[in-house]
Amino acid sequence: MSGLSTGLLILIIFLSLLLLAVIVVTVIAVIEPHTLKVTTRKMYPASKIPGFKKQDPSTASGSFSQPGIRLFFFSDLHADICLIKPERLISAIREAHGSSPLDAVIFGGDICNDYQVNEKGLSYLKMISDTCNEIGIPFYGVTGNHDFGFDPSDCRAFFECIENKQIHFTSRATGKPVVLCGVDDSGRKNRVWYKVPDVPSDCTSVLAVHNPDSILHFNEDDHVDFMLSGHFHAGQIKMPFKLEFLLLRDDKLPKMNVVEGIFEHNGTTLFISRGVGCNKLPFRLGALPEVSVVEIFA
Ligand SMILES: [Fe+2]
Repeated sequence: MSGLSTGLLILIIFLSLLLLAVIVVTVIAVIEPHTLKVTTRKMYPASKIPGFKKQDPSTASGSFSQPGIRLFFFSDLHADICLIKPERLISAIREAHGSSPLDAVIFGGDICNDYQVNEKGLSYLKMISDTCNEIGIPFYGVTGNHDFGFDPSDCRAFFECIENKQIHFTSRATGKPVVLCGVDDSGRKNRVWYKVPDVPSDCTSVLAVHNPDSILHFNEDDHVDFMLSGHFHAGQIKMPFKLEFLLLRDDKLPKMNVVEGIFEHNGTTLFISRGVGCNKLPFRLGALPEVSVVEIFA
């Protein structure tokens, strides 16, 4: 009798702890999409390694004392399930520009989950665009896989689409030319990996492209020094053993442990943002929404 009681007690304690854990995880997953993290991402020139490795600023920083250009990058708005208010993002842009001048604001694609409901996304982007106009910095962007069917040359995009364009800057650190360009996303059905724009070899090239897997499809002679992307949402709801990527997505880099942050690969420094909004469900777990001040040392 006493053995049965003890066993029952252990079961009740176990189930109570399990229930408590589920409640705690659920509460965190509900709160996270509201919690914007403004990160500063410092990107240094990459070594020519064939695999992928996290960039270590202590060894990669070299002799740079200041960034060549300074960008504000945000991706994966998914405005129909975005719990970060535009005012919060706007104040992050103003603060970043106030501390040291920004050269541009760049959007990395995915306006809404569904192209058909992108009015909400467009009004969000309009507020960002108005802010950029007011403080006198350009607003550039590329499309993501969820923007399939949307024409980025439509003036209602509010950002200037930089697919196959070359935007020229001069590095504050070296006085040398830096070229920003972009590649749009073809969408997932009948996926096409578009060609990277040809940037002169004497310029530092910065490429904005939504899907980080693009880097696996560069040609031998493509010249990309720095790459800004999003798309993975850092898994959005992280599960044990990376099940969110193994079961739910067919992207290749996460299976190589390349999910978020700054990596070096074959002469390219790659930044993968966690993005701002949510796909399908209004939850995030272990994947806080992110907008970034990106400092490019070149
Ligand atoms: Fe996305």
